[in-house]
Amino acid sequence: MAEEKKSRHYLTGKEVRAIAKENAKITRALEKKKKRKAAESEFVTQMKDPSNILEVEDLHTYFFTDQGVVKAVNGVSFEIPQGSTVGVVGESGCGKSVTSMSIMQLLQGPAGQIYSGSIRFKSYDYKREADGSPIPIWDDDEAGNPQYDVAKDKKGNPKLDKEGKPITVRRQKRDAYGTLQYEMEEKVFDIAQMPTKEMYRLRGRQIAMIFQEPMTSLNPVFTIGNQLDEVTLLHFPGATKEDAKRRSIEMLNLVGIAMPERVYKSYPHELSGGMRQRVMISMALAGDPRLIIADEPTTALDVTIQAQILDLLRDLKTRINGSILLITHDLGIIAEMADYVVVMYAGRIIERGTASEIFHHPKHPYTIGLQKSKPTMDSESDSLFNIPGNVPNPIDMPDYCYFRERCSGCVKACFGEYPPMIQVSPTHFVACHLYDKETK
Ligand SMILES: Nc1ncnc2c1ncn2[C@@H]1O[C@H](COP(=O)(O)OP(=O)(O)OP(=O)(O)O)[C@@H](O)[C@H]1O
Ligand code: SF4
Ligand SMILES: [Mg+2]
Repeated sequence: MAEEKKSRHYLTGKEVRAIAKENAKITRALEKKKKRKAAESEFVTQMKDPSNILEVEDLHTYFFTDQGVVKAVNGVSFEIPQGSTVGVVGESGCGKSVTSMSIMQLLQGPAGQIYSGSIRFKSYDYKREADGSPIPIWDDDEAGNPQYDVAKDKKGNPKLDKEGKPITVRRQKRDAYGTLQYEMEEKVFDIAQMPTKEMYRLRGRQIAMIFQEPMTSLNPVFTIGNQLDEVTLLHFPGATKEDAKRRSIEMLNLVGIAMPERVYKSYPHELSGGMRQRVMISMALAGDPRLIIADEPTTALDVTIQAQILDLLRDLKTRINGSILLITHDLGIIAEMADYVVVMYAGRIIERGTASEIFHHPKHPYTIGLQKSKPTMDSESDSLFNIPGNVPNPIDMPDYCYFRERCSGCVKACFGEYPPMIQVSPTHFVACHLYDKETK
């Protein structure tokens, strides 16, 4: 394997073939696992701490390339307490997006794979009958007598029996948007163990993602309304086109779009960048998710719009009582938005803690360096990462601290093994030998 060829800069054809063969063996097995039919018990689990919505534990996500295995995420552990915003920060290529794509099971296979670890997510899903159908909540009268309405088809027209008489159905409760209500239950899933097919019930519904460039996630040939309605029709059983439209307009309203009816009828290219990002957020909200993953949500936008979108996210989080995983390389955004901060470096977490701990008492030389290189008002945010030196080659990671070549505070232990995660407060952890003896 490539790990043994540390000093060489190229691989022979024979070596490439050997790596490809070994990769194919591993990725075939992992792909088979994702395609398997599995009983729910195989991927239903428990949270370690019930106040969390997400617990990522020792996650390893690799890319099996012909040059060797890229350990893009290499043993990452963190959690998101329910109702909080966790910011992930780190310079380009450190594994932020790969972490979020792992949570969504959106890695490009067969090369990209969750290799090991757990991603526990607490979902709030429909309670189902043995046959898989969701259990309705009936809208009976006060005396408990069932009420009946005329049944409607997907287009909202009355359904008729053979004799042309309207078919009636028992009245079901609806929410403020008119969406049918079903019994719900909390369930914890280990996403790392879930077959891809099962992920559909989480993706877009329980966990939604907002990307950097909305144009790549919006389909140019369909109207905004069409794409928004689709989310409701897909995720809410029994929703008619009429219900979906009502909900879509509400969602556009919720993200501060002044003329929702007009935007509803527009195509993505007819909207400005800021407007498209608002639409993306409304689409993320349409599934009524518990967790929103925002990967550089404002990087493509100018500063004023950026501030508006961040305000919007903050406001929505409180309104929907949701949690946010906010990925950015902009420390300023993290400082403004996050309750907890995770600092990544070369596929690992090197420090994590509350926002106040990371900003006021950074421990890791890398985090301290980031603080010192905070940009001024008129500098580019990329200049944050101006600590000299390079990140090690992701295929040949060293067995000592990855930051050593760039660190000016080395001690003797740094020439030994990779530092363990050291707890310096109930919420603050750092992977650095400087704190070997500091435990709380
Ligand atoms: N398809 C792929 N094949 C091989 N390596 C990949 C692939 N996708 C990502 N990687 C590698 O995974 C590592 C992490 O990438 P990731 O996209 O998560 O970085 P990031 O922290 O999101 O960076 P940025 O701030 O630039 O978005 C990088 O070293 C990258 O080269
Ligand atoms: S472990 Fe050593 S080399 Fe690594 S960041 Fe800490 S002091 Fe620097
Ligand atoms: Mg990224």
